[in-house]
Amino acid sequence: MSDLKSDDLLKKSEANPAGVQGLSGEVSERLPGGAVLEALFSLQRREGYLSEEGLSYLSSQLGIPLSQIYGVATFYNAFSLVPRGRHQVCVCYGTACHVRGARSILERLERELGVKSGETTPDRKFSLHLVRCVGSCSLAPVVMVDGRVRGRLKVDQIPQLLIGYE
Ligand code: FES
Repeated sequence: MSDLKSDDLLKKSEANPAGVQGLSGEVSERLPGGAVLEALFSLQRREGYLSEEGLSYLSSQLGIPLSQIYGVATFYNAFSLVPRGRHQVCVCYGTACHVRGARSILERLERELGVKSGETTPDRKFSLHLVRCVGSCSLAPVVMVDGRVRGRLKVDQIPQLLIGYE
């Protein structure tokens, strides 16, 4: 396990437009293969998503073909190749939530936010996602906002759910 953190790598690049320049050859030599995931997570934290420019730069600096970088980035749902909102609203569409009204919850969220699942509001405040069971079936129907589980939701509670996010 390397003591090299991808956040440290990316901190070196704060003054550049891509947000990732500054990863030196010396750094890439020390970067273990598994740390590609960490580098991708760090890039996404910094930019809100994985931009084409950022991925290309990681590819060149790490000496890893862009196709492989894309392969990793598209394999995991946690990564996004399009800009995401500052807050992630995830509607559970697992079986328990589905039978307890997840569809109505989703429709109300889509109306409140003005976007469909998989989309981001124009002000980039919220992104709306559908997810499978999040392990809180006894609380169905469930919505997660930034990882916080809200359960036993009623449709008319949805507007209140979205208050307080900047
Ligand atoms: S199905 Fe929604 S939490 Fe399990």
